[in-house]
Amino acid sequence: MEKVFSGIQPSGQLHLGNYLGAVKKWIELTEDHDCIYCIVDYHAVTQDYKPKKMQKRIFEMAASLMACGLDPDRCRIFVQSHVPEHTELAWILNTVTPMGELERQVQYKSKSESQSENINVGLFGYPVLQAADILLYRAQKVPVGEDQVQHLELAREIVRRLRNRFGYELPEPQPLLSDVKRLKGLDGDDKMSKSLGNTISVDADADTITKKIKGAKTDPQRKKRKDPGDPKVCNIFTMHRFFSTEKEQRWATEGCKSADIGCGDCKKKLTENIITHLEPIQATLGELRKDPDRVWSALAAGALTCRREAAANLDELREAMGLR
Ligand code: TYM
Repeated sequence: MEKVFSGIQPSGQLHLGNYLGAVKKWIELTEDHDCIYCIVDYHAVTQDYKPKKMQKRIFEMAASLMACGLDPDRCRIFVQSHVPEHTELAWILNTVTPMGELERQVQYKSKSESQSENINVGLFGYPVLQAADILLYRAQKVPVGEDQVQHLELAREIVRRLRNRFGYELPEPQPLLSDVKRLKGLDGDDKMSKSLGNTISVDADADTITKKIKGAKTDPQRKKRKDPGDPKVCNIFTMHRFFSTEKEQRWATEGCKSADIGCGDCKKKLTENIITHLEPIQATLGELRKDPDRVWSALAAGALTCRREAAANLDELREAMGLR
């Protein structure tokens, strides 16, 4: 079976961008791939954060992944810092990563702007740790949203450098993008992202979802009710494509193009469908919160088998580098 690896920051709750852009695909891949999914706490500490809240954020992320359908019996889920080989490999990879490649990373540039008081070396080396996550398990496929593609290009460059310098062979990991590779936030401008405060979390209650969708931007050309719109450029329609039936999507497309329906009608239907979709997820999340051991023991089991595999793979690389 092909090896799949992906990671997510412990930002607390999953939002619809994570869910549609990555996690839905993660779940599908568990059908016929050997999948490893990691909650990347060492990546998260490169940003400002409150230490007392970190364990809760990790728990909530693991529980919401499981509630969305990621089954720890069909894949491995674990916390990055529970497998210390990740940071060990990151150090090794630092020695084959050119500074210039890291300086070009778009995410580094934008994060340095948003936290100009805390531009730390970890933030700069963030993509190297990400490459280590993937290469430690010799993963071939990496299901991610579009914002991670540049980081994966760097991981492939690192693979080539390891090959040239030490004759060490690894697969070049390929990104797997879902249909919704970049879900915009409710402001309609940037991607949906917790740090931008434009998200809907999978844990949001019906009132919050209703209010958020009501205030969300639609096709900017559609200024008045009678103006026809273009569903292709409308973020609300992007979400309909996932949450609504084909019949409802046809209704939304035709109604929008002919101005038979207004944005309010289209949003109302989407709101109903999101609430219905999230209901069972939220029910399972509630159960997991009452039984935290189920979540922590799944993470411990994941870390145990990952650690064995990681240590064996890292030993091979050390040997190729003359380190043992
Ligand atoms: P993170 O935690 O920002 O996001 C997790 C996954 O969700 C995707 N995503 C989106 N997709 C579409 N539209 C959006 N608005 C949206 N927002 C987030 C992300 O692309 C990602 O796939 N650096 C990574 C975590 C990481 C990782 C890895 C990923 C660490 N090591 C190894 C893959 C492989 C990150 O911060 O993801």
